[in-house]
Amino acid sequence: MKSVVIEQPGELVLAERPLPQPAAGEVRVNVRFASICGSDVHIWHGHNPFANYPRVIGHEFFGVIEAVGDGVDTARLGERVAVDPVVSCGHCYPCSIGRPNVCKTLQVIGVHRDGGFSEYAVAPAKNAYRLPDSIPDRLASMVEPFTIAANITAFLQPQPQDVALIYGAGPMGLTAIQVLKGVYKVEQVLVVDRLPERLELALQNGADRVFNNAAVPLAAQLEGLQPTLIIDAACHPAILAEAAALASPAARIGLLGFSGEPCSITQQSLTSKELSLFTSRLNSHRFPQVIEWMEKGLIQPQKLVTHYFPLHDVERAMTLFEKDPRTCCKVILQMP
Ligand code: NAI
Ligand code: MN
Ligand code: ZN
Repeated sequence: MKSVVIEQPGELVLAERPLPQPAAGEVRVNVRFASICGSDVHIWHGHNPFANYPRVIGHEFFGVIEAVGDGVDTARLGERVAVDPVVSCGHCYPCSIGRPNVCKTLQVIGVHRDGGFSEYAVAPAKNAYRLPDSIPDRLASMVEPFTIAANITAFLQPQPQDVALIYGAGPMGLTAIQVLKGVYKVEQVLVVDRLPERLELALQNGADRVFNNAAVPLAAQLEGLQPTLIIDAACHPAILAEAAALASPAARIGLLGFSGEPCSITQQSLTSKELSLFTSRLNSHRFPQVIEWMEKGLIQPQKLVTHYFPLHDVERAMTLFEKDPRTCCKVILQMP
C-alpha cells in the first residue's frame, strides 16, 4: 500500500509499505479521505515534541472497515467510519474520569503510531465511529477537527447571551465559531486575526464581527466591550495576558496552544476578575456528538474546505497548506 511516511524530520516520502494486520480488538480501514492539519506539517519539519520517526502521519481520516481483528464483530465489515485518533489505556486516573485524551499513556494515531495518510490504517475498533449516510465521504474527515471545538466548548459552557471572542480564524478558530453559533446559539461572536482573507472566512463561517489586529491592537477597537467567553485559537503565548485584560469580570478563557515559550501574566489580572481558565487537548469521546451535529446540519464542514488533492500530490498539498494561509484553509487528500 502507498503511505505518506516522514522518515525523519524534513524527509517526506510516498512509500510502498506492507498492509498492516489488525490486532485483536482492531479494525483495518480502507482510507478514502484524510485532511491535513498543522500538526502533520509540524511532524514533517520535526517541530512536534510528541512524534517519533519514521511515522505515517494523518490523524483526520475517513474510510471503510475492510478487515477486523480477533474479537471484533464481522458485521462491522463495510462500515463507513471516522476514526478518533485518541488511543487510551482505559484505566489510569484521567481515563477513569472520562478524559482519555490526557491518558497517562496516550497514543495519538498519526503521531505516536501510524496514521491515515495511507491507503490503509489500523485502529482500535472502538475508535472507528460509524457515520450516517447524510455525511458525505468528502467531508467525513472533518469530524475530528470539530471535536477540538466540541471539547473546549464543553468546558466553557457557552450561553446565548455570551459575548464571545475568538483569537485566530484558522481551522481551529473557524470550527469554534461554527459550534458557538450553530450549536450554542451565542448571539455575539467576535473574531480577531491578522489576515483579511481569514477574517472573510470567519464571516462566512458565522462570525458576527471581525477585527484585524495587524496594525491596531484589539483593545483599541473593542471600545470597552468586554468579552465574557474567549477562545485562544491563534495560540501565541502573548495572547493570554491580553485576553485577561480585555475580559469581562467572571469571564471564561479557553486555551488550545502548545507553545513551549513562557508567557507572562499576573495573578492580579486573573483573580481580580475571578477569571476561569480552561485548557483543552484533542477530544474526550466527542465523535458521537460532532457526528450528530453534522447530521442535524448544525455545523457546515464544507465551509472550511478550500482544496482537494490526490494522495500522490501530498507534498504539494502540504506545502500549499503551510505557505498560503490566505488562500488555504482545510486541504483534503483523496486516496486512490
Ligand atoms: P492556523 O495557523 O491555520 O491559524 C491560526 C490563525 O491565527 C491564523 O489565521 C493567524 O493569522 C492567526 N493569528 C496568529 N497570531 C495572531 C494574533 N496574535 N492575533 C490574532 N490572530 C493571530 O492554525 P489552526 O490549525 O487553526 O490551529 C491553531 C492553533 O491551535 C495551533 O497553535 C495549534 O497548535 C492549536 N491546536 C490545538 C489543538 C488542541 O487540541 N489543543 C488541536 C489543534 C490545533
Ligand atoms: Mn488536527
Ligand atoms: Zn489512560
